[in-house]
Amino acid sequence: MTVSDLMDSMEYGPATESAAEALAWLVDRGDRFGHFIAGQFTEPGDGFEAKNPATGEVLATLTQATPAEVDAAVDAARKAQPKWTGLSGHARARALYALARLIQKHARLIAVLETLDNGKPIRESRDIDVPLAARHFYYHAGLAQLLDKDLAEHVPLGVCGQIIPWNFPFLMLAWKIAPALAAGNTVVLKPAEQTSLTALLFAELTSEAGLPAGVVNIVTGDGAVGERIVTHPGIDKIAFTGSTEVGRKIRTATAGSGKALSLELGGKSPYIVFEDADLDSAVEGLVDAIWFNQGQVCCAGSRLIVQEGIADAFHDRLRARMAALRLGDPLDKCIDIGAIVDETQLSRIEGMVAAGAGEGALFQPDCHMPGRGCFYPPTLITGLSPASTLMQEEIFGPVLVSTTFRTPAEAVQLANDTRYGLAASVWSETIGVALDVAPKLTAGVIWVNGSNMFDAAAGFGGLRESGFGREGGWEGLMEYLRPKGTAKPLKPLALAERADKPAPADPLDRTAKLYIGGKQARPDSGYCRTVYGARGRIVGHVGLGNRKDIRNAVEAARKAQGAWAAASAHNRAQILYYIAENLSTRAGEFADRLHAMTGGPKAKAAAEVEATIDRLFTWAARADKAAGEIKAVPIRGTALAMNTPVGVIGALCPDEVPLLGLVSVLAPAIAMGNAVVLVPSDPFPLIATDFYQVLDTSDVPGGVVNIVTGSHTTLAATLAAHMDVDAVWSFSSSDISAEIERAAAGNLKRTWVNHGRACDWTGEDGEGRAFLRAATEVKTVWIPWGA
Ligand code: NAI
Repeated sequence: MTVSDLMDSMEYGPATESAAEALAWLVDRGDRFGHFIAGQFTEPGDGFEAKNPATGEVLATLTQATPAEVDAAVDAARKAQPKWTGLSGHARARALYALARLIQKHARLIAVLETLDNGKPIRESRDIDVPLAARHFYYHAGLAQLLDKDLAEHVPLGVCGQIIPWNFPFLMLAWKIAPALAAGNTVVLKPAEQTSLTALLFAELTSEAGLPAGVVNIVTGDGAVGERIVTHPGIDKIAFTGSTEVGRKIRTATAGSGKALSLELGGKSPYIVFEDADLDSAVEGLVDAIWFNQGQVCCAGSRLIVQEGIADAFHDRLRARMAALRLGDPLDKCIDIGAIVDETQLSRIEGMVAAGAGEGALFQPDCHMPGRGCFYPPTLITGLSPASTLMQEEIFGPVLVSTTFRTPAEAVQLANDTRYGLAASVWSETIGVALDVAPKLTAGVIWVNGSNMFDAAAGFGGLRESGFGREGGWEGLMEYLRPKGTAKPLKPLALAERADKPAPADPLDRTAKLYIGGKQARPDSGYCRTVYGARGRIVGHVGLGNRKDIRNAVEAARKAQGAWAAASAHNRAQILYYIAENLSTRAGEFADRLHAMTGGPKAKAAAEVEATIDRLFTWAARADKAAGEIKAVPIRGTALAMNTPVGVIGALCPDEVPLLGLVSVLAPAIAMGNAVVLVPSDPFPLIATDFYQVLDTSDVPGGVVNIVTGSHTTLAATLAAHMDVDAVWSFSSSDISAEIERAAAGNLKRTWVNHGRACDWTGEDGEGRAFLRAATEVKTVWIPWGA
């Protein structure tokens, strides 16, 4: 066929990118790879094949890492870490900058190799994956440069184990490695067994960039190698992207180990189209949302929610557009849809569609299907009920499911009817509609009149079972840092016991109840405990809360949280000031109570009350000043990084400073719009039950603060396992961190536990950035913004 023939027929001609250079690169390396450890490739060992999913051809053989090889990689990273951390931020910035330049220099080779190995269209690897990866290294070169100046009080975590999936092999590598290195960590990265080749190419680039040996180590292999990394005692942090199922296993496996953890997991992201949307743009956006990378995208807009009045017209336009999608050789620059990553994933998609499509109407255009390779046609399934499996489960393929709504409120309800919370798109030409709906969507990333926009400056990550932690921006860098200094071990505080010859009991003795939904509540168990003071004298009785009380408190907190989050930050600040004012008028009484319970000098108790009032002022002050940031992203738009509340937070409060500790936990949480279920200090609970009288007189809406007294060890697991709690914090002196982390795996809630380490409640620790981070979810909202 000649060019002039094509001009006559206007048919697409083949425009295939040459694979020669990438294949030659493989041949030069003998088509066999070992691991990259301490700056060198190891001898290839027993392993598995890397295949081109578009053809089935074997590209290379890779090595399954043995436990000894994982150990060697961790050792290398450990040895390299002090020197790497010891470099100036500027020196690390130069190294990251060199990597960014090298990625650009070798962009074509990386893109072709990625397409051969993964099956994604060359257009996408060339124009999206590789440029975004380079941008990630440039941006993080900048963060490394600024780190010494802007976050001087922080240090790196140490050695990071990073496990990535097969859908964006090179881009996910960049998302993991760039922030880790910028912060001064060293890494052991395991690419997915289906797609390891570009990671091995990257390993070569680290040598070319002059990165010290051991700073980046790459080991290949399957989930067993991943498990070995996760449980390795020499690793300080695990960063994982992949399925929710494996994320849950990793949460459980790391519980109590003290390893930091960030999880970027699955999704079933809604794509909401209002009747006043620009329908052609919304169709085009949807092509990006669900057929980009064959739908194998964690944040794919895989759930279309379209307004009833335009649903038929919209589906018609969509079907017409689907019929024009071209599927075929991923190296052909004119195709839209490439190959599915492997046969297992292909049969998973086929199986899910075969099992569920009968509940609705299935449409697949009559597109040309290649005679070999792992291909699946673009698919639309309409008429499903919101509860059907295909509406709820991640298919991870080019399959869009669709349902309709009538009102904006129904759209929000349908959109949020999922266990995930990764991303969401909302389409409307009416600014009032779009910007009213966007904040109501439960997702870490929201695109207004757009989809699948990413940038290194804008945080990316999920809520609920889509995981926790952010990648990109300062918030992503914080996942690789910790505050300077070594926290001291926390001594467990025993309950005070009755003295042999107790002094007379406090004449004002009364049994303190629980505080739930703004009301005093008797404990469900009907039991109470006698609280003895420092000198063994009875200072009161306290109710022993149980599982049922926690459930009631969570219910009350959930009910109150929405309205509390919707109150203005000014309003929340006013209430915090009011609490401070009311505590101040009763300062003497609180100091006496503290003194009676904890003993020690009276002045110490008075100082704790004063510090508590100060802390309330701090969070009243922060409430209206911590809204977030605007991110400079390279598109005609902007990304807002909004600090939104986490939701319902359960907290086990510190024992060592019972009043200051309680308030240090409560104040940031409610300042940022959360509702809390607090389990106060176990040995000194009465200070909390006195405190709810202060709350009662300070206009705190019922349910925003709930107090359940009782044993930390009994209540921690109940709170952590509760499916309607969004985060659990523990500063308890009891040994409950591991149990909390393990129980939290159920709904993958965020946890922040002390692992038996003390916190400096009077200093920066008690009121610093860490509380603000823990009390908020950064929601990235992309909006069109003329420039
Ligand atoms: P996966 O979650 O098993 O694999 C992701 C990575 O984790 C790979 O590097 C794998 O070797 C590693 N891994 C597997 N088991 C592990 C373990 N126990 N401990 C540590 N690392 C482990 O995902 P898979 O099996 O490839 O795909 C299954 C489904 O997961 C897909 O159909 C899709 O629904 C979802 N998925 C979601 C991704 C996302 O980005 N959200 C990415 C990949 C898959």
